[in-house]
Parts: sequence; C-alpha cells; structure tokens
Amino acid sequence: MKRHPGLRTFSDDHHHGLVHARRLKRAEQADLTEVAGAFLEFWRLETSLHFRKEEAVLLPVLARHGGDLSQSSLVEMLAQHARIRGLAMQLGDELVSREVRGGTLQALGELLEAHIRLEEREVFPFIEESLPEYALREITSRLEAFETGTPREPWVPDQDLPVTPRPSPGDG
Ligand SMILES: [Fe+2]
Ligand SMILES: [Fe+2]
Repeated sequence: MKRHPGLRTFSDDHHHGLVHARRLKRAEQADLTEVAGAFLEFWRLETSLHFRKEEAVLLPVLARHGGDLSQSSLVEMLAQHARIRGLAMQLGDELVSREVRGGTLQALGELLEAHIRLEEREVFPFIEESLPEYALREITSRLEAFETGTPREPWVPDQDLPVTPRPSPGDG
C-alpha cells in the first residue's frame, strides 16, 4: 500500500517487525533462548522507540488537527502497545531466569503481527484520510525534532530550545 511520506518511516519499521513476529511464532523448543534474546534486542533498539514515536508524535499530531481519538482502532492500538510492553517485560524476566516459555514467544509473535496489521489496515488509512497534507508533513517535521534525543517533549519551548516553524495550512 502506498503510504504518505509522513507515515513511511513507521511502515518501514513494520516490515522488520513482521519478520520478528514470524520468528517468534515459529520458535522451536531448542531455540527459545536465542529467539527471546534476539527479540529483546530488537525491542530495546527499535520497537520501544517506534511505540514512543507513535504515542508522542503521531497521535498528538492527529489530536491537534481534530482527529477522532475515540475511534476503536486507535483505542485498540494503544491497548496493544501496553500488552506488548507487558509481554516484553515478562519475556525479559523469563530470559534472566533462563526459563523462556514457548507460549510467551507465541503470544508476543501473534500480538505483534496483529498490531502491525491493525495499524497498516485501519489506523494509518484513518490518519491519512483525517489529516490535511500540511498536517501529514508536520508528522515528519516533528519526528525529526523527536529524534534529536532530548528526553523532554522537544516542542515545549524553554530557554535553550529554539522553536522551528512548522508546516501550516498556507504552505504548498
Ligand atoms: Fe507501528
Ligand atoms: Fe504501534
């Protein structure tokens, strides 16, 4: 599916996520520890940041431009984030105690796959339909600010923080 450039970085991450979801679902008894370790590395380096960008950039931009946040697909998306985080916590504990359970990997793989399908099939099309072009471009611009690495909300101005102009309705 053709994605607006503002959402493309998320969709690129989703391709990697689907590969990991498949590995989780197919893990054999002999590989449980290895698959768990590989997933938690992926989680630590990529997916946890991906979730934060969706929560701290994507949905707030939708909110500020009047998008309907009560949509069931958006509510479900956030509930899935919490469930996936909870399973990642559990898997981390299982790995530390060397008792990785196949059922945990299976549940995580199924949930991650369902989550990516929900975003690609329902959430992203809804956002693309709801937001005007300049607001979709605002997603890209705010992702860049988010990725500068400040632990705070990067768009709340303070003494040290220059405020850069954002795309507005008048911009072509
Ligand atoms: Fe996502
Ligand atoms: Fe997500």
